[in-house]
Amino acid sequence: MKNIYLLFISINFLGAAFAQAPQLGKNPIKEIVAAMTLEEKAKLLVGNGFKMPGMKPPAGGPVIGQTQDKVPGAAGTTFAIPRLGIPSIVVSDGPAGLRIDPIRNGDSSKTYYATAWPIATLLASSWDTALVKKVGAAFGSEVHEYGVDILLAPALNIHRNPLGGRNFEYYSEDPVVAGNITAAIVNGIESNGVGTSIKHYAANNQETNRNTVNTIVSERALREIYLKGFQIAVKKSQPWTVMSSYNLLNGTYTSQEYDLLTTILRKEWGFKGFVMTDWFGGKDPVAQMKAGNDLIMPGTPQQSARIIAAAQHDSLSAKVLDENVTRVLEIILQSPTFKGYKFSNKPDLVKDAAISRMAAADGMVLLKNNDAALPISKKTNKVALFGNNGYDLIAGGTGSGDVNKAYTVSLVQGLAGAGYSVDNGLKNIYTSYLSAEKIKHPKKGFIEEFMHPTPPIAEFVADNNLIAQKAGDADVAVIAIGRNAGEGSDRKLAGDYFLNDTEKVLIKTVANAFHAQHKKIVVVINSGGVIDVAEWRDEVDAILMAWQPGLEGGNAIADILSGKVNPSGKLATTFPVNYKDVPSAKNFPGKEFPDQAVTGMMGMKQIPAEVTYEEGIYVGYRYYNTFKVKPAYEFGYGLSYTNFTYGNLTLSSTSFNGKLTATIAVTNSGKVAGKEVVQLYISAPSNKLAKPTEELKAFAKTELLQPGKSQTIQFVITADDLASFDTKSTSWIAEAGKYTVKAGASSEDIKKTATFELSKDIVTEKCNKVLVPQVEINEMKK
Ligand code: BGC
Repeated sequence: MKNIYLLFISINFLGAAFAQAPQLGKNPIKEIVAAMTLEEKAKLLVGNGFKMPGMKPPAGGPVIGQTQDKVPGAAGTTFAIPRLGIPSIVVSDGPAGLRIDPIRNGDSSKTYYATAWPIATLLASSWDTALVKKVGAAFGSEVHEYGVDILLAPALNIHRNPLGGRNFEYYSEDPVVAGNITAAIVNGIESNGVGTSIKHYAANNQETNRNTVNTIVSERALREIYLKGFQIAVKKSQPWTVMSSYNLLNGTYTSQEYDLLTTILRKEWGFKGFVMTDWFGGKDPVAQMKAGNDLIMPGTPQQSARIIAAAQHDSLSAKVLDENVTRVLEIILQSPTFKGYKFSNKPDLVKDAAISRMAAADGMVLLKNNDAALPISKKTNKVALFGNNGYDLIAGGTGSGDVNKAYTVSLVQGLAGAGYSVDNGLKNIYTSYLSAEKIKHPKKGFIEEFMHPTPPIAEFVADNNLIAQKAGDADVAVIAIGRNAGEGSDRKLAGDYFLNDTEKVLIKTVANAFHAQHKKIVVVINSGGVIDVAEWRDEVDAILMAWQPGLEGGNAIADILSGKVNPSGKLATTFPVNYKDVPSAKNFPGKEFPDQAVTGMMGMKQIPAEVTYEEGIYVGYRYYNTFKVKPAYEFGYGLSYTNFTYGNLTLSSTSFNGKLTATIAVTNSGKVAGKEVVQLYISAPSNKLAKPTEELKAFAKTELLQPGKSQTIQFVITADDLASFDTKSTSWIAEAGKYTVKAGASSEDIKKTATFELSKDIVTEKCNKVLVPQVEINEMKK
């Protein structure tokens, strides 16, 4: 209270301009709320509208104050009430970098570029919370220095299906990874005194019909898979805000669902900030207020009018409205804008680029490395680089998760920078092809691109003679295969998840030609998500999953290919052998009801749809391991240029008494320095509840271990880690019986195990019976 009081004293200083500012007493927010008119409240709870280049804000839209233009390109602002000293604050995307306009008023003498960080899936694949926190701290400094108050990120929906169009913005198929990585980045970003908005809450795992789809999911799968990451993030980082999602959840729009936003988020988990909608999400502003969705974004005057009318006609109580207002005000009072921070518009982009490069290399995953094809020896005279993406790297995905960066280091530049001689003939052929193709597709505006995405440039067809000639000249072949996706649509199987024919022929022909000369071939995958590898992986010597590695991507890939950095990333999402093995394959992206379609915003057709999560809790490795379906590369998998040996796994006790510690030493038994990700899985007894064979409960990354060096890792296991959600009693229960703790280098590669007993069931938490599906779900059973 004292803090807020002091802040309000500063309002009075700040706002000598606010002649009518009330005299503030001991409970200033309460007094401010009491001093607000109904109209002011209704406007504070609804953003200032959406301003796009070349587009006017909605007719009659309240563009109050000058802040609408404070940060051009930002996604939105809140309503200012100068007479009460309440400024407008600025929110902007995320999650791969701060998304703002780089050039203002056509003046390119001064620019406002931001760092494109490696995408979320790459960051999660580092399994390195300390590193992710460091990225967050640097990211947040750009948010702060560019005058933004709240970053609309991170995003942590579960990778339910590899075709999810926004998977690159999300971390993992596993909520423990997603939740802990989220907490790390939130803590890093918010250490700058700016806010975050963890999104999209909840069960928003596809882009197809995203504004109309009803996600039907069991209480257990919700609690254990789709809400768990948010729960971990709220508990470990208490983000300033949460963004509700577009979809309906068991029949109700998430932004209108009291039990999601209030019963669970606030009452059960203790979330203290405010909730905002996704842009134009949900339908009923009054229901949103009642649900605890405090801020409607980007906001229209009609929404404020509906709130006012409902309050005047007693269908929205003053108490509810005041609670919403209070929560928004509490955050505004912490904002840099409120505090009068004089942002520089000059973040340290050079320092941040170095952090981005380091993080990018830390999360790349080496999938295959036969006969030590990698690292490519420095004695190599010439590298033949094939594939469009070798010359045109994809730094990050599309849509609101795109970043306006000053440059992207391509792979060809990265290889040259690392000291390799890259075949110039190929370079000329590819670069002229790409420039000619790009001219055919001039850059479109955001909305146009969103509605009609530009197709990727067709893969250049390298003929057999060219390939044979290069196999003679060069010492090694590198082929880059790229994929892009983003907001607005999901990925397709043909030519996207699967390689297209040109790519397959390219790999085969290059492999045959180079292998005939006893030379190696390396494939670099430059994709935001999983692609098929089963069809072609046997033809090549090494595969590096480089993801979309941000603006320093080419350098970071070269750091790995050259061995300057030893790869230490591990998959946080499974690569299946067949797409049809994916447990949600039958139910993605669900059913449509086209006869009920209506015309929505900007003339877009809105088709009611539903998707049923029949796989229940068996998502990702929980499915593959339990049902013994062998993936191509399993969850937690990733190779290194060195080897690690694991000592014994010791438990502090063989019987559980509220807490246990598990300790294990890891030794670098190879020849080069490296880092290992140690994963702790638990197999729980299943007397009452069916359980996945094992579930990840904790993880840690070692420091850079020199050859011969060891590090001892300790994990604490609590009762919460043993519990599963029992739908019948609506509680989390750790069942009595024998538990096996497994320390692994992946979900399949378990190195050491130890067991303990729990003598009696423990109910770790009794929850509210809420979000019950209205229809029966034919859930997958063990
Ligand atoms: C996206 C959000 C984003 C918002 C503002 C929406 O279309 O779903 O993730 O934060 O736009 O740009």
